Amino acid sequence: MDKVRVGIIGMGRMGLTHYSIINTHPAVEMTAIADTQSMMLNMMKKYLPSVKMFDDYKDLLKSGLVDAVIVCTPSVMHYDVCKMACENGINVFCEKPFTTSPAQAKELADMFEKKGLVNQVGYVYRFDAVFGKVKEMLGKQLIGKVVHTNVQFLSSTISKIQPEKGWRSKRENGGGATYEMGSHVIDLMEFFFGKPQKIVGTMMNQVYSEAVEDIADAQLVYEGGMSANIHVNWSDYTYRKPMLKLDIHGSKGKIQADLYGYKVFLREENVEEGLPEGWTSVPMNMIPDPCPFYVRGTSFTKQLYEFADAILEKRKSNGCAFREAVDTQNVIHYIFEH
Ligand SMILES: NC(=O)c1ccc[n+]([C@@H]2O[C@H](COP(=O)([O-])OP(=O)(O)OC[C@H]3O[C@@H](n4cnc5c(N)ncnc54)[C@H](O)[C@@H]3O)[C@@H](O)[C@H]2O)c1
Repeated sequence: MDKVRVGIIGMGRMGLTHYSIINTHPAVEMTAIADTQSMMLNMMKKYLPSVKMFDDYKDLLKSGLVDAVIVCTPSVMHYDVCKMACENGINVFCEKPFTTSPAQAKELADMFEKKGLVNQVGYVYRFDAVFGKVKEMLGKQLIGKVVHTNVQFLSSTISKIQPEKGWRSKRENGGGATYEMGSHVIDLMEFFFGKPQKIVGTMMNQVYSEAVEDIADAQLVYEGGMSANIHVNWSDYTYRKPMLKLDIHGSKGKIQADLYGYKVFLREENVEEGLPEGWTSVPMNMIPDPCPFYVRGTSFTKQLYEFADAILEKRKSNGCAFREAVDTQNVIHYIFEH
């Protein structure tokens, strides 16, 4: 395949971000957009006359105009849209959280694998240069046996009492801090350490919301005994921009990382890696991170290019496939139920 025809379903905040990125890929042709808002469709039609607009995503999926779709609808719709895309032989990049039930997540992973279609979930932090470096250091066991991890994701998304409107204010639609932000950190933990063996504690709290949680905490235990604390708060008004940060404590050192860089502490010098005893601090701009297009950082571009390239190269596997998001979905729902 030398060209991929791509459609976007759900042209809101993420749809627009993804459009701007995927449209820069030299082998991608944007052919279709679906949304239910006529204002958005009319505006897109004015500027993109060659792209076909649909007010019903089912018509887009049946149109024969796309080889792949990027699904950016409210989360509760992901399952129906992905399922129909699969039935029509269309490759799918689906925004996170993957689905709103573990059974749906598993069913979609099975379906796409059976059909041999490329599938990916938008757990974008897997493509972040800092967290990529953390994974590399863990793989090399630079800090020895990992004993404990503390991970926090904080934002001021909901910073005042507000009328319960919009899909994010209801859990059944995929709203709340756990789906919206917790899913990212649970996935990042999956990326670093695999599936947790057990979840020993969970807690939720509200600051401003009435129907969903603003704060979520979970304690997880991994094979080999590593324990982890996850803390998410989307009502922390001290953060103007979302902040994801973590501390990983090992027998021979410690890694601290956030969206701006990482620090590693070694109890003994590591000659092979050129790291001295004590702290080494590496800001984000010192990590090589080539990227053809910069929007909201480099990770969003890297994840979408991964998706398009996997289709073009007819790859059997790609980053953050549906299967990898199934365990994350299981953990999310365990937190809801306990
Ligand atoms: N990866 C990230 O960091 C990140 C960040 C924000 C949101 N998200 C995820 O992206 C998805 C979309 O979030 P958003 O912030 O763009 O939401 P949004 O509300 O801005 O956009 C959703 C769009 O879907 C459209 N829509 C609703 N019903 C539809 C239908 N039946 N057919 C077609 N379109 C329909 C809406 O009109 C709207 O334009 C969610 O799953 C969300 O969790 C991911």
